Amino acid sequence: MVSIRQATTKDMFQMQNCNLNNLPENYNMKYYLYHALSWPQLLYVAEDENKKVVGYVMAKMEDEKEVEKSHGHITSISVKGSHRKLGLATKLMRASHHQMSFLYGAEYCSLHVRVSNIAAVGLYNGVLGYEIIKTEVGYYADGEDAYDMRLYFTNPTDPAASSEEVKKEQDLMKGDTGKDGEMAGEGKKKRNKKKMM
Ligand SMILES: CC(C)(COP(=O)(O)OP(=O)(O)OC[C@H]1O[C@@H](n2cnc3c(N)ncnc32)[C@H](O)[C@@H]1OP(=O)(O)O)[C@@H](O)C(=O)NCCC(=O)NCCS
Repeated sequence: MVSIRQATTKDMFQMQNCNLNNLPENYNMKYYLYHALSWPQLLYVAEDENKKVVGYVMAKMEDEKEVEKSHGHITSISVKGSHRKLGLATKLMRASHHQMSFLYGAEYCSLHVRVSNIAAVGLYNGVLGYEIIKTEVGYYADGEDAYDMRLYFTNPTDPAASSEEVKKEQDLMKGDTGKDGEMAGEGKKKRNKKKMM
């Protein structure tokens, strides 16, 4: 059985391994640790029964001054070939989305994807409801174009937008801080308009 949980710094080497085998965009360990230490709540792993990481999502909050609205950004997601088409990427993405919205008050999440990546575009647009904002010509190092995509969040307490694991975490946080109501209420949430390509 595969479970989804928040990543820790101990998972970083397994996450990097999962990335190296699946994607041309690779990062050094410093970059993984930068994410894990800055936004630990936004990184999730899918772990099999042997405690092996079979998928991950790594995300961050955009904190540039010129960005007028707080938003999250998916830096990388990957699921091992042996565990694809089981809904793991969907769960990982939803867990990170939930935390962006719920903890950080993000109004939306952005990402880039290769225009040829049919599986990922299907996940983002078809399943999760991301819209294509624009095409960035020659975005990748090898010259391929990227879709710049965006998902506006619905109500973060919407059960459809959060995994069981996140709901458990949310319950724990209620007990610990009692602040979730405040956080969840921050910002005016736009309803995502799902648009097919
Ligand atoms: C893209 C990726 C993360 C999807 O992971 P996954 O766990 O298999 O995805 P899910 O099972 O949650 O599938 C969700 C949706 O994605 C789409 N999808 C996934 N694999 C697909 C494939 N091989 N072909 C077409 N669509 C596919 C489908 O729309 C699917 O919904 P469905 O099952 O109802 O048809 C995985 O294929 C992967 O790791 N690829 C290599 C790394 C990568 O490309 N990362 C994205 C970089 S932007």
